[in-house]
Amino acid sequence: MSEKPGSGPSGFDRRAFIAAAAGSALVPMAARAAAQDANVSAAQDPALPVDVTLRVNGKDKRLRIDARTTVLDALREHLKLTGSKKGCDHGQCGACTVLIDDRRVVSCLTLALAAEGQEITTIEGLATDDHLHPMQQAFVDNDAFQCGYCTPGQIMSAVACVKEGHAGSEADIREYMSGNICRCAAYPNIVAAVKQAAPEIMKG
Ligand code: FES
Ligand code: FES
Repeated sequence: MSEKPGSGPSGFDRRAFIAAAAGSALVPMAARAAAQDANVSAAQDPALPVDVTLRVNGKDKRLRIDARTTVLDALREHLKLTGSKKGCDHGQCGACTVLIDDRRVVSCLTLALAAEGQEITTIEGLATDDHLHPMQQAFVDNDAFQCGYCTPGQIMSAVACVKEGHAGSEADIREYMSGNICRCAAYPNIVAAVKQAAPEIMKG
């Protein structure tokens, strides 16, 4: 059975369709095609900006960012939440630790796009109203810092350490906080702070 040139097996007539599209529908079609091209280009070139919505400390934040942006850079450079610190930028020091869906992560190695739809908690989101979080208060009470650069990461990691059930002994605390480096060597005071805050955090 022969087919009419330009028409497929379904009877779709390509020429007739193109002729119809040449009227008023042509401009919207061109616009749609351009938008599709832009999406394809964005997927192919990570340097092109992409839209992302991050949920940070209970609020949705819409951003247009380079697809390669880390959570740390999204927080510090785009949202001006500078509590999370950049130490090594290589996942080695823990200064950038935040919680994502209650799990501690090094935000310098986590892509912002991968965190979309998850709950990001930073040091700025720990206190409620005028009350410090028990872990923040314990760090103050125990002088658990000197220069303070590592402290936000230490505190976020300590909160997770307690919730994971890894604060039952000083040895456990040292082991499970070992990913957070303190150049000032405030370790004994940090361990004391975690011990102090643990019962209150576990009470909820
Ligand atoms: S800055 Fe992320 S681990 Fe050091
Ligand atoms: S308090 Fe200075 S690096 Fe920890």
